[in-house]
Amino acid sequence: MKQTDNTTETFQQTFQVSYAYSVSFTRQLFDIGNPLLADTLGGSGAAAPHRVLVYVDDGVAEAHPQLIQRIRNYMQHHAEVFSLAMAPALIPGGERAKNGWNIVRNIMADIGNTHLDRHSFVIVVGGGSVLDSVGFAASIVHRGVRLIRVPTTVLSQNDAGIGVKTGMDEHGAKNFVGTFAPPFAVLADFAFLPTLKDKYWLGGVAEAFKVAIIKDTGLFDFLEAHAAALRARDEDLIEEVIKRTALLHLDHIRCGGDPFESGTARPLDFGHWAAHKLEVLSNYRLGHGQAVAIGIVLDSRYAALCGLLSEADATRIQQALSAMGLPVWDALLEARTETGELEILKGLEEFREHLGGSLTITLPQGIGSKIEVHEMDTDKLIEALGGVKASCRHDARRCVHSA
Ligand SMILES: NC(=O)c1ccc[n+]([C@@H]2O[C@H](COP(=O)([O-])OP(=O)(O)OC[C@H]3O[C@@H](n4cnc5c(N)ncnc54)[C@H](O)[C@@H]3O)[C@@H](O)[C@H]2O)c1
Ligand SMILES: [Zn+2]
Repeated sequence: MKQTDNTTETFQQTFQVSYAYSVSFTRQLFDIGNPLLADTLGGSGAAAPHRVLVYVDDGVAEAHPQLIQRIRNYMQHHAEVFSLAMAPALIPGGERAKNGWNIVRNIMADIGNTHLDRHSFVIVVGGGSVLDSVGFAASIVHRGVRLIRVPTTVLSQNDAGIGVKTGMDEHGAKNFVGTFAPPFAVLADFAFLPTLKDKYWLGGVAEAFKVAIIKDTGLFDFLEAHAAALRARDEDLIEEVIKRTALLHLDHIRCGGDPFESGTARPLDFGHWAAHKLEVLSNYRLGHGQAVAIGIVLDSRYAALCGLLSEADATRIQQALSAMGLPVWDALLEARTETGELEILKGLEEFREHLGGSLTITLPQGIGSKIEVHEMDTDKLIEALGGVKASCRHDARRCVHSA
């Protein structure tokens, strides 16, 4: 009788987990007189001294030759808080950090060899790429070792380093592998910024434009008004832009209702479907921020063709990004597959697949607000591409930057 009985018993399992982490902005984090880092671990509730591994972006270490020694001195000075389990290790900076499993595997081995446990800390100092790869490794060993991020680029202080995601490039796609893993804390140190190359200084501002265009008219006006000074590397202005942009991102993660992106929408990825494709097509010659600037301009032109944005506003966006020294066009936008299709259009399906479900693209609806659409009209996209290219022909010098 039992063999033919097909009744089912279902027990619903529902619970909530709340996350909390602080994001601090400081200067000279590893100065012995700055208590922030020691206080951050000291307040963790676990028994001190805390076992710690430190990873440093090699580009940061090169630009700040005293850094490793300063980290050691800081930890020795606060020996009641820190127990360094291994000498601070360097990670190749830039997208190389996210390229395949080797780096991740080495970090996993370090964690294993030094017997760190889930109450120990991994501290990572660097740009978004190094934060993504070290964060990924830390998030999968023991199902998550505590991570303290010290972002050192504009983009990582206002976006990549303050959120809940980690990532690694695999299978020919950006961030194909990764986890949702909120950090223990984020400690952003503005004193790292002056040594950034222009490309990364400017690239971080592209993310500020992105979030301003869909969420904050005031921030857009500010960026537009101060584009020249920001480009000339005004430190007070960049700090204000970083904080305002970071708060918009943090608000979205906290209040947007979908911090782990289980829906299909990803509003903060305005301009990113084309950007991710361009980064890969360019073999990462285009930095993330540069690619985002091009993606923003393309989607703004498209939004104008759909009547969502005025032509004048689409032009304003393009001109402000150009004035910032960001590219708005790249020849790869016209690259074709062997069968003659535009390569860039494949980015739409890849974006959909990465998010899951139906295609959802965020477009500006006027400057300062957004709308989600579920399809992009290919003819209109091609027209938008043509529009951007034509506008560049008038002023080619301003459209493509080598910075
Ligand atoms: N996890 C997320 O939520 C998220 C969000 C946005 C972007 N990202 C990722 O972030 C990455 C881009 O990060 P990025 O723009 O910070 O650049 P990056 O990490 O690629 O670093 C760029 C270069 O700057 C160097 N560098 C870093 N800090 C420096 C400093 N203070 N002085 C001198 N040189 C320094 C690095 O060594 C590297 O050569 C991309 O892989 C992108 O996908 C992740
Ligand atoms: Zn981005």
